[in-house]
Amino acid sequence: MDTTTQNLVILTSGIVNTYHDPLRRDIPYIRQEVQVLLNLWSKWNQSLADIKELFEQFAKQVTKHMEREEGEFFPVLCEVEKCYNWDQKYNKCDLERFDTTIRKLEQDHEEFDTYVYDIVDVFKNIQLDEIDKSLYDRCKRIFSTLEIDVMHHTQAENMKLHVIAREKYNVLCG
Ligand SMILES: [Fe+2]
Ligand SMILES: [Fe+2]
Repeated sequence: MDTTTQNLVILTSGIVNTYHDPLRRDIPYIRQEVQVLLNLWSKWNQSLADIKELFEQFAKQVTKHMEREEGEFFPVLCEVEKCYNWDQKYNKCDLERFDTTIRKLEQDHEEFDTYVYDIVDVFKNIQLDEIDKSLYDRCKRIFSTLEIDVMHHTQAENMKLHVIAREKYNVLCG
């Protein structure tokens, strides 16, 4: 990967626009859909309560995670990019802390992937006698889309943003 042409300012703002903002918009909508399902079917199936619980845990953690990235991590990357491009001295070098931050974010990503995978899995195995098929299909689509979006988000950060960030940080601070 040619890191010199990959600008961290552009990458981070692309991630916010493509993944963070849509996810933030979708969370209340998905929450509402899960509640509709629960209201209709909870007396028949414990699985829906499990889905609600898993989704709420996921929503809480992913919201905090994005806030942390946008409030703390991405600004650091933008500063690194600026110093890297303009040959300025970056005087906040702390390789260990930088590495720990990235590893923690990647650990979070793993947890998010697992949450969404579990939700989709529980949902797939729901067996109900009395279901509104169109509602069930709609929710199934929502969860599958969520699974793909979360997976793409993880890939964009783990395999691109973090790789380039490490390389530029190492050039400035190594
Ligand atoms: Fe992110
Ligand atoms: Fe992330």
